[in-house]
Amino acid sequence: LIPPLPRMGLIQELGAPLRQAFAQLPLGSQIAVSVAGFLFVTVFLNVMKQVLFKNPNEPPVVFHWFPFLGSTITYGIDPPRFFKDCRKKYGDCFTFILLGKKTTVYLGTQGNDFILNGKLRDVCAEDIYTVLTTPVFGKDVVYDCPNSKLMEQKKFVKVALTTEAFRSYVPIIVDEVTNYFKRCPDFKGQSGITNIPRNLAQITIFTASHCLQGKEVRDQFDESLADLYHDLDMGFTPINFILHWAPLPWNKRRDHAQQTVAKIYMDIIKRRRESGETGAQDIMWHLMNSKYKDGRPIPDHEIAHMLIALLMAGQHSSSSTGAWIMLRLASRPDIMEELYQEQIRNLGPDLPPLTYEDLAKLPLNQAIIKETLRLHAPIHSIMRAVKQPMPVPGTKWVIPNDHVLLAAPGVSASDPEYFPEPDLWEPRRWDKDHPLAPTIVRNQTDEEEEKIDYGYGLVSKGAHSPYLPFGAGRHRCIGEQFANVQLQTIVATVVRMFKFRNVDGSNNVVGTDYSSLFSRPLEPANIYWERREKA
Ligand code: HEM
Repeated sequence: LIPPLPRMGLIQELGAPLRQAFAQLPLGSQIAVSVAGFLFVTVFLNVMKQVLFKNPNEPPVVFHWFPFLGSTITYGIDPPRFFKDCRKKYGDCFTFILLGKKTTVYLGTQGNDFILNGKLRDVCAEDIYTVLTTPVFGKDVVYDCPNSKLMEQKKFVKVALTTEAFRSYVPIIVDEVTNYFKRCPDFKGQSGITNIPRNLAQITIFTASHCLQGKEVRDQFDESLADLYHDLDMGFTPINFILHWAPLPWNKRRDHAQQTVAKIYMDIIKRRRESGETGAQDIMWHLMNSKYKDGRPIPDHEIAHMLIALLMAGQHSSSSTGAWIMLRLASRPDIMEELYQEQIRNLGPDLPPLTYEDLAKLPLNQAIIKETLRLHAPIHSIMRAVKQPMPVPGTKWVIPNDHVLLAAPGVSASDPEYFPEPDLWEPRRWDKDHPLAPTIVRNQTDEEEEKIDYGYGLVSKGAHSPYLPFGAGRHRCIGEQFANVQLQTIVATVVRMFKFRNVDGSNNVVGTDYSSLFSRPLEPANIYWERREKA
């Protein structure tokens, strides 16, 4: 009934030869042209949406061409670089699209505080992590239970990690490390070259399992447990945020490994109960003797699942940190020598067997770990689901509850505002009087830091600290002290046995591999080692 508009006629006329040309194309080309057309329209609409419909009540959105994919690739290749580039364009708070999810990053000390010390009613970790962690750890622990239960579980572990326990761990770690270097084929002879991250992964699992889970579990790592933990690990890949449920080969192996490892632990728990063993300093024993607030003992399956969670949580972070330390030492043989001299000076020229008390007498040995974690914190992104709209203080922005929040404390740890020459690895900067000392060390007063108890003991709030490699708030790490004892003891023992340098004699270090959830050195990361004494 409506006569065609003259312009429509013109479009039809112009369109006709195009339609004809399209019809003459082979089917494959027709599909390709259609897909390209569809992509063009999608990209066009996506760009127009970003340009025309900016929401003044939400943080700026990082420009991206493709919907869903958003900035996933740029973020995934090098998250810290991505954060720093975006910060220059958009400021401390911005939103980017990560696999279709609106992810709001809030950088700097204020951002760390906003996210990590967020109220339980506002932010939630389990909604993000449970899909990945529950199939690996098992049911009813960590993110597969209410937060109040996790706080109790963290308290059980924290209470178990006493000074007495640490005192017993140091000789265990020294023994494990010494024996490792005797046995390991990579360290045959007087000198050689090795891919050091692989060695540190093994040393970390042997020392952690022996200290935290007892000798019986440790011994099984030479046999079945190493492979089973490897299969569990495969469940911890970023792709499993989406495909955690899929009946894929690695997920099947993950499920089998979870059931097998849990059964191994439950059998040991049963045997220990039957034998009436007492007085061990490992976590298994402490959990067997702990009770929830309501008086319930911890069921065996929960003990087993907590043991898996602890070993996995500690393994990635400590082994990556240990590997970075060794690579940094190889890039600075002068510092490795200084560490050796520090032990001779402070512990005696005969280098007596290392004790827990000795660790406090080795400030450079401690600073090595601090400085390495400043530049190489293994957790680059800490995420929370938003449970209700969250106003950003000092702005008119409100973060809606379909967003994910992302904190990146590593960015403030390499910010020149707090750390002079931030990219320089310089462990001596942690001395108060060093010219590169960070402002937090320089301005340190005797005033107590603000502390808070979320249900697992007092922890510093870290609200204004630019240096938070162990996180902050209710999800803060409970393994910090153990990791420090473990890493300091490993470093002190290695320094007594070896001199390291880069294979090419340079001061370079390898780049970072961000492809798994925890960042780690790109492999192969070879170093040249030489024994101090004849093998
Ligand atoms: C939590 C770092 C070693 C057990 C965390 C968090 C960070 C962290 C940043 C906070 C995660 C979040 O807020 O979502 C590190 C680093 C380590 C280390 C850098 C070593 C250098 C360990 C070890 C253990 C451990 C050895 C176990 C013995 C845990 C646990 C949590 C945690 C249970 C709590 C998770 C939660 O409450 O949601 N760690 N960690 N960590 N870490 Fe560690």
